[in-house]
Amino acid sequence: MRRRTAPEGFDPAAVRPWNARIDGLGYGGDYNPEQWPDEVQVEDVRLMDEAGVNLVSVAIFSWATIEPVEGELDWAWLDRTMDRLHDGGVRVALATATASPPPWLTRRHPEILPRLADGTVLHQGGRQAYAPTHPVYRDYALTMAARMAERYGDHPALALWHVDNEIGCHVPRDYSDAAAAAFREWLRARYGTLEALNEAWGTAFWSQRYGSFDDVLPPLAAPTYANPTQQLDFDRFSSDALRDYYRDLRDTLREITPHVPTTTNLMASTGTKGMDYFSWAADLDVVANDHYTIAADDERHVELAFSADLTRGIAGGDPWILMEHSTSAVNWQPRNRPKAPGEMLRNSLSHVARGADSVMFFQWRQSAAGAEKFHSAMVPHGGTDTDVWRDVVTLGRALRALGEVRGSRVRSRAALVFDYEAWWASELDSHPTQAFRYTDQVRAWYGALWKLGVTVDVVHPGGDLAGYDLVVVPTLYLVTDADAANLAAAADRGATVLVTYFSGIVDERDHVRLGGYPGAFRDMLGVRTEEFATLQEGETVRVVGGPLPEGAVADLWTEKTHVAEGTDVVAVYDDGVLAGWPAVTRRGTDGGGAAWYTGARLDEAATTALARAVATEAGVLPEDEPAVGLELVRRHADDGRSWLFAINHGPAEAAVRATGAELLTGEDVDGTLTVPGGAVRVVREG
Ligand code: GLA
Repeated sequence: MRRRTAPEGFDPAAVRPWNARIDGLGYGGDYNPEQWPDEVQVEDVRLMDEAGVNLVSVAIFSWATIEPVEGELDWAWLDRTMDRLHDGGVRVALATATASPPPWLTRRHPEILPRLADGTVLHQGGRQAYAPTHPVYRDYALTMAARMAERYGDHPALALWHVDNEIGCHVPRDYSDAAAAAFREWLRARYGTLEALNEAWGTAFWSQRYGSFDDVLPPLAAPTYANPTQQLDFDRFSSDALRDYYRDLRDTLREITPHVPTTTNLMASTGTKGMDYFSWAADLDVVANDHYTIAADDERHVELAFSADLTRGIAGGDPWILMEHSTSAVNWQPRNRPKAPGEMLRNSLSHVARGADSVMFFQWRQSAAGAEKFHSAMVPHGGTDTDVWRDVVTLGRALRALGEVRGSRVRSRAALVFDYEAWWASELDSHPTQAFRYTDQVRAWYGALWKLGVTVDVVHPGGDLAGYDLVVVPTLYLVTDADAANLAAAADRGATVLVTYFSGIVDERDHVRLGGYPGAFRDMLGVRTEEFATLQEGETVRVVGGPLPEGAVADLWTEKTHVAEGTDVVAVYDDGVLAGWPAVTRRGTDGGGAAWYTGARLDEAATTALARAVATEAGVLPEDEPAVGLELVRRHADDGRSWLFAINHGPAEAAVRATGAELLTGEDVDGTLTVPGGAVRVVREG
């Protein structure tokens, strides 16, 4: 296998910014000219100009068009596209064209196809039919990337490299023989000895002890639960293997074009579990994300905000690229939904408010053929006499008016802790309940803070918590000693930290921390849970006390929790087997901070009330609670300027205190900003 390392003498400081060749904010989408005749492509560039498009992603799925037969390369159409876009003032995020191998490759080398845990081979005919670890596939992919870099590295339209596409989207876990071999290599590197692996995996259980690394397999379909640590390590390995694939492609590009920035489009949201993007971030010159709202979710704008905040967290607070979202309906949900009037603008500007310096879509022109023909686009089937097109033009105008926010950052004093490893481990099988979903708990706390108008950074448990007065830790089942100490240190130096049920339970090997739950957080919280009491579907338990509203209940999860001396009981269970036992506790720290715990999954009203209590204690609650549905976020520039984004998701007019120049309407705002129902306003303050 060809493996690349960063070229000798590579200087990260010499990589030009991804937006060096565009003014203001990026605007555009995936552009697939190979699906269209030449005259349509000519019209495309004219319409891009009309809409204000300045950046498009090209050649993502072009391998089979460039190389329809092995070794026979047709560059003419892509040369024309690059030149035409450049002449039209449009810059290109050029792909490596590796997102889907051409049919001849998988026919000639069927061994590169990926496999499911039950051995099912995933064939060509859709997309992404490759095993990222297979040396033969890797070799072909690197060759393709190198060809792109050699041909277009100096093209003036080139803004950045777009490596592959949504790596791991369809095949986050590959169980092929190539993956098994790479997994063993990964395990040797992690554990060094077989003894260490046996210890970490707890193989004394169920006759699982390994006598040779060769006997170790991925967690294939088995008669019953596979070893949990084997499953967890396979999750880690799979994320690393996909990142390694990205790195090899990136380093191939870097060798040829060391000054061109490189990224790949992540899928950070509550829906993508496969990749630990916090561990990917350092490998991207700029973080790029794709996000799609879920039609069945009535609060999809809140999930969108979470995704944007998570993306910013992955980017370490830096501005990022929204590489894809949709102008209207998608085609891949059970029931799809067109966007409501104004929703596309609200979605786009919510991403910008939360740090995106570019707004892009899948895709520019809606396909006439293929599996995505019913997926919306910037130019719909109906052409330009459509609301979608008019909205696209309006959005282009809005982004031009907002160009000055480029490079500015969101500042927050509240953090929500999020961790992929904890997600993987907490949803493993053979747990106290199978109904637990990590992102439900994350969403519940994020949503409560969103509604209170508290802007949060979504951070890794090992992240720098120095600037935060409030740290919310939704169910962090797995935590390392170091990360637990990091969270405890935040409380010790004066922050308010809130931890929720089933946290701190296991170490990184998925071994239970003995002596009582919540293991790693027992001392920090001053509590000891002796047993979980998970509830049946529909079963609830009343919870009373402290800030909780009348009628508050817990469902799914409760715990039999003792408090240590110095820990206050804030609320207790009011009925059921745990009647009278603590449900919410608080322990003050010497540093003036506090460590709160709830061993219960609280209902929405109780979650909001508790969120309000801790946000108030931490001093991060805004002076005025925003009107229902009003999203308020600020971006700040280093020179002291700030912009208030006010996005009204509700139907009724809403008001907020603000003074300055409104950039979308050009109006002066003097004290009160009025935002009509469904509208967006952005005020340059001061
Ligand atoms: C992903 C892919 C695109 C397209 C969209 C459809 O984001 O990257 O190629 O399939 O989904 O929503």
